[in-house]
Amino acid sequence: MTKKILKALAGEKQKIPPIWMMRQAGRYLPEYRETRAQAGDFLSLCYNSELAAEVTLQPIRRYGFDAAILFADILLLPQALGADLWFVTGEGPRLSTVQTKLDFANLRKPEEINETLAPVYETVKILSKELPRETTLIGFAGAPWTVATYMVAGRGTPDQAPAHLLKNDNPELFDNLMNLLVEGTIEYLSHQINAGAEVIKIFDSWAGSLKGNDFDKYALEPCKKIISALKGKHPNIPIIAFPRQAGDRYIGFAKQAGADCVALDESVSAEWISQNIQVDGCVQGNLASSHMVSGGSVLIDETKRVVKALSNGPHIFNLGHGITPEADPKNVQIMIDTIRNAE
Ligand code: CP3
Repeated sequence: MTKKILKALAGEKQKIPPIWMMRQAGRYLPEYRETRAQAGDFLSLCYNSELAAEVTLQPIRRYGFDAAILFADILLLPQALGADLWFVTGEGPRLSTVQTKLDFANLRKPEEINETLAPVYETVKILSKELPRETTLIGFAGAPWTVATYMVAGRGTPDQAPAHLLKNDNPELFDNLMNLLVEGTIEYLSHQINAGAEVIKIFDSWAGSLKGNDFDKYALEPCKKIISALKGKHPNIPIIAFPRQAGDRYIGFAKQAGADCVALDESVSAEWISQNIQVDGCVQGNLASSHMVSGGSVLIDETKRVVKALSNGPHIFNLGHGITPEADPKNVQIMIDTIRNAE
């Protein structure tokens, strides 16, 4: 039996597409909130392999998604590279910043990350034993640009201005940081694959703020380097790239980067995706995550529209971005029933 997600990634069109959701283990689920409280806080949960595996499994038990995504965070890599990291409740992540040559010199080497990240690899090992046979295990990392935006600013920023400034004012330092992140990401993902991850997803949440040559240099090129290194070591590993908000740069991205699938956010329509992206192979997306909050007949109609528009080629059903804490768990079930019970 080939798993549904792996079939889609191999280019197979399926009558009922496989389904999973970004942030499917998260605060909208009461069982997640309970386990997080048991762990103490978010980062303690990420580094507690047993509990991280437990929250990864929760949405699989509740909904029977076709994929489980490792419970961790893209900011664990900067932490393993030596940045301080903490989360302010209700506000988001905070990190020590990398803005000078000295800040950069204080970071660790790519091969030194594994001691800090060992519990994450252990979570992957537990999951590969405990997941149902039909469920695919997805490992992930942030793309270098997105991770760099947090490392430079020390927090999330609406326009990624601090990272744009550093890349323009001190390109040598910024390129050094990007190269370190490329190498660190290869190391991190390679260990996840060795531990049992069956698919890798690369999250470039802020790719949309890169235009023109910058997009090629800081979104496409790093992604290409990571994918080529991973496929060199693990020839059969399927890879999903997510250059969020890339707009017309979504066109040809998977091919150029060497990815098996491109994930798309909801700023592009499913009909446009079908015509411009799915012609090249598997796509993932792209129901607006706001429907998980608002529900109703619009949720059903929009779910059907996405499935129909992408029914002519390989498709993995997902949201355009992560499900939010305000989402109603009942709406997730309605979405799944709409997809799986479609006549
Ligand atoms: O998708 C999953 O279910 C797997 C786990 C996962 C998390 N973060 C858990 C998480 C994944 C794949 C991520 C990726 C991630 N983390 C991204 C890229 C995708 C995206 O959403 O754009 C980014 C930018 C981050 C960084 C990050 N982590 C931010 C900005 C925040 C705070 C915002 C928020 O939603 O609270 C986090 C925290 C975070 N990561 C939570 C979870 C479940 C919420 C923490 C909590 O439980 O309090």
